[in-house]
Amino acid sequence: MGLENQVALVTGAASDIGYAYAKCLLLKKVKVLLCDVNVDECQAIAHQFLNEFQNINIFSTKCDVTNEDEFENAFKTCIKHFGRLDIVINNAGVFDNSIERQWSAIVNINYGGVVRGTLLAIKYMGIPNGGSGGTVIQTSSLLAFSDNYHCNPMYLSTKKYLMEFTKSFGKNNHFSLHGVKIITLCPEFTSTNCVRSVCKNETLHENERVDKVEDLKNNQQSTKIQKPGNVGNALITILEYGKTGETWIVEDNKPPRVVE
Ligand SMILES: NC(=O)c1ccc[n+]([C@@H]2O[C@H](COP(=O)([O-])OP(=O)(O)OC[C@H]3O[C@@H](n4cnc5c(N)ncnc54)[C@H](O)[C@@H]3O)[C@@H](O)[C@H]2O)c1
Repeated sequence: MGLENQVALVTGAASDIGYAYAKCLLLKKVKVLLCDVNVDECQAIAHQFLNEFQNINIFSTKCDVTNEDEFENAFKTCIKHFGRLDIVINNAGVFDNSIERQWSAIVNINYGGVVRGTLLAIKYMGIPNGGSGGTVIQTSSLLAFSDNYHCNPMYLSTKKYLMEFTKSFGKNNHFSLHGVKIITLCPEFTSTNCVRSVCKNETLHENERVDKVEDLKNNQQSTKIQKPGNVGNALITILEYGKTGETWIVEDNKPPRVVE
């Protein structure tokens, strides 16, 4: 089945990358449910797309991925509104350096939100549960491969956990039970509001500098930094060609590549 007329649920949809995912999906005629804690921004984005594109189908709902009931309600809303669900994009994530205060919240959003979203996807799209199968895409980070970036251990470790969770849970023996592909997408630094503000205030140890963080700090309009639209295009490629359990990287404004 091609992507046209499929239905996607996107978490963290009020973010720059979430916006790019939604836009690329809509351009492929996928119907999209925007989910975020920031539902006002989701509604504004939905209105903007409805003004910009013809014949699209988009809806939004509030969804905190740490809240089991609210997350499940988003799935129910999606099926009630669009009549089906084929794609789940676990994109909500936070990059917060105050680990002493925030560590459990970061784990609960970045890792817990992905696990919850994956299990709900299997519950609502899994073939034994009456679904038609489908695809789950997790948004990890290229930082999960980095050994020289230590300024945010919570962020880094949650992104590594979710990648390992997906590699393991996405294996064919699991897939054969429910028909839901599970794939990780790891973007490198991407020019988003979040990254710009984090990098502006970042204090990195001399030995831990990552070139592109420095570049973002020094030049807000840097052309070296990947654009969210490239991550959105990568999502479409992965939905079309990705296999369950795979990890894909998207960097340097280039097409994505699978990690061998
Ligand atoms: N920007 C980058 O360089 C980059 C690189 C690699 C991976 N990522 C990942 O991509 C995703 C999007 O990042 P971004 O940079 O576009 O924007 P961002 O960090 O601004 O977006 C986060 C979004 O998640 C939402 N959110 C926060 N807590 C939530 C919760 N509990 N439930 C539901 N939604 C919640 C926020 O409201 C926001 O819209 C994140 O998972 C991030 O870790 C970003």
